[in-house]
Amino acid sequence: MKGLKTVYICSECQYKSPKWMGKCPICGAWNSFVEDVIEEENKPAAARRALSARTGDHKATAFGDLEMPSYIRTATGLSELDRVLGGGLVLGSVVLLAGEPGIGKSTLLMQISDILGSHRRVLYISGEESEGQLKLRAERLGVMGKNLFVLTETLIEKILTEIDSVKPDVVIVDSIQTVYSENIASTPGATTQVRETALAFINKAKTDNISVILVGHVNKEGTIAGPKLLEHMVDAVLYFEGERQQTYRIIRAIKNRYGSTNEIGVFEMTDEGLREVANPSEMLLAGRPKQTPGNCAVCTMEGTRPLIAEVQALVSSTVFPAPRRTSNGIDYNRLCLILAVLEKRLGLRFSANDVYLNVIGGLRLDEPATDMAAALALISSLTDRSVPDDVIAIGELGLSGECRAVSGLEYRVKEAARLGFRRAVVPWRNLEKRPIKADIELVAVKSVYDALHLLAPAEKPQ
Ligand code: TYD
Ligand code: MG
Repeated sequence: MKGLKTVYICSECQYKSPKWMGKCPICGAWNSFVEDVIEEENKPAAARRALSARTGDHKATAFGDLEMPSYIRTATGLSELDRVLGGGLVLGSVVLLAGEPGIGKSTLLMQISDILGSHRRVLYISGEESEGQLKLRAERLGVMGKNLFVLTETLIEKILTEIDSVKPDVVIVDSIQTVYSENIASTPGATTQVRETALAFINKAKTDNISVILVGHVNKEGTIAGPKLLEHMVDAVLYFEGERQQTYRIIRAIKNRYGSTNEIGVFEMTDEGLREVANPSEMLLAGRPKQTPGNCAVCTMEGTRPLIAEVQALVSSTVFPAPRRTSNGIDYNRLCLILAVLEKRLGLRFSANDVYLNVIGGLRLDEPATDMAAALALISSLTDRSVPDDVIAIGELGLSGECRAVSGLEYRVKEAARLGFRRAVVPWRNLEKRPIKADIELVAVKSVYDALHLLAPAEKPQ
């Protein structure tokens, strides 16, 4: 067709190339190029359009004259989700819910449609499931469906007409990758289709004051066009994380124009859909191995909430010329750094061993405050001396092996005490500045070396 051209677009950084490439020359991502068909722009016309956009009648406003906006929020009824959203769905805003297929996005949205339906009109647009399948799922979840309208349509023009006739307060689009426009040449799910149809929903949300939730699928390699592309266009981006084999799920805000991005929401997948988990630490600690070398409990802050998790390490002699290092839940480079510090400062020989590090429950610990626990778990596994079960470790590891101060120590030790821990390894530098009261024995350490006396004596080989 005249005016149409095939291009390859990097799904990470949007770099366009006329040829497919294995590695993006701009952002360095591998396998990130997806095919797309675009209409060739008439350059002079585009330039004119850009100019006319600039010559609109908008005038600058003095900052003092700006009015405070009043956001109208609707609680979704699931407090774990509301916590991540910053208090509920904002009218006229667009939220992107991204996650891998099968993680539970449709389940969550069907559940909140039911709760929202008690005081709002909800339109659930599904391009993936038939009405029968939706009904089956709803039955299983015990959804009553008051004020809930279901539309199985993927053509954006028809969807917009239907929104006008239903006049909903909340629109759920499951998923944005299935929606397409007849006026765009590329196939559904292609970059242009996803961007243009998402824009149509965003405009609708702003003009009609509707809350829109867009579902976006991601895969591990990030090669599906979608969430990355839309992140800058929407008001909030929530990622639904978790291991499909395990039952619990975490919702994390990556971006939120109406709230904090630090909060997470924790859910458990049950036979009757997702259930909120108000005390995630208890769940994360359930069934932890006792008196086993290589384990250490840690307390991380997720927003305002302290969360106790368990770091596990396995250090075993290697059969490879270059020993293996595998890390789940803690950044790989962070693991390498901790190993280097322990090797150099404590003279421990990790270089002759394979090292595996894992955070129980598929949780991701991004905070440096978890370094001490990782270091103790590693030392414990290497030396076969277990960290006692009543000990929890909190602190950041510096390059000289020193234990650096962390934020929110009071909240962390309080949560540890609540869950029955009796001793907490904490940074001496925290207590030096401001002593804290706690119902738990505080073992203030200046370096990782100071914590080693807590380890149990080495177990006799059997
Ligand atoms: P789904 O919401 O369809 O995932 P997504 O929309 O993100 O692709 O959830 C799929 C999985 O959830 C499926 O493998 C079955 C499981 N599930 C339950 O365990 N319990 C339930 O009540 C429901 C509805 C689903
Ligand atoms: Mg789904």
